Amino acid sequence: MKLTKRLEKIASLVSADIKLADIGTDHGYIPVYLLKEDKIKSAILADINKGPLNNAREEIKKMSLESKTDLRLGSGVSVLEANEVDEIIIAGMGGVLISEIIEDGLEVCKSCKKLILQPMQAPEELRRYLLDNNFEILDEHMVNEDFRIYEIIEARYNPDYKIETEDIYLELAKPLIDRKEPLMKAVILKKIKECESILEKISNNSGESIEARVKYLKLRKEKLENIIKSMED
Ligand SMILES: C[S@@+](CC[C@H](N)C(=O)[O-])C[C@H]1O[C@@H](n2cnc3c(N)ncnc32)[C@H](O)[C@@H]1O
Repeated sequence: MKLTKRLEKIASLVSADIKLADIGTDHGYIPVYLLKEDKIKSAILADINKGPLNNAREEIKKMSLESKTDLRLGSGVSVLEANEVDEIIIAGMGGVLISEIIEDGLEVCKSCKKLILQPMQAPEELRRYLLDNNFEILDEHMVNEDFRIYEIIEARYNPDYKIETEDIYLELAKPLIDRKEPLMKAVILKKIKECESILEKISNNSGESIEARVKYLKLRKEKLENIIKSMED
């Protein structure tokens, strides 16, 4: 069974010999792959919609994995009990929806050893939620698939974890900047270009709100350029 690059990266972050839950599993490709590879003990595959859960059922049947899997229909982690699984994947949804799923099932999410989160949009909203709610970001990853860059966040509840961070690091994963991740460089360069393009468009306009916008964009561009510089040192 061959996973796409995005799913392969997510699967690689799951620890060995654990009980896994995959929330919003759709075809269930990750848990099915990990069980087939004998990497994990068992998996709960959950989805809010019957169609996707039936897709997962088909995959499980094809691979004869019925004894190691449990299919659950329902929203978010409401289908789980606290301490029922070791690690939870929530992938392929918006960052806001992922935060809502964690918030709605806080006790379950606090009880597990690791959350593996892959927001399709608004990763900054998800990072804000995690940091505001004592979820420590353990590490971050980026993968490039079909001309799109995907971000993956590993997090764990830690009651003692409290950090202040600049807004720019909610948008741009700090561990990837520190590791000088080439994909992160590409993301930052794209953001600098976006700033330049907007600045050029509005440069002939005037008014208080335009001035404030120009000031904001120049400051943002400078911050992004400084981050790129720090990655080149
Ligand atoms: C785009 S698919 C992602 C599938 C897979 N996780 C992946 O990353 O490729 C999103 C899936 O999440 C499910 N979903 C959406 N909201 C959900 C929720 N609140 N709880 C559980 N599943 C949800 C959808 O039914 C759909 O199957």
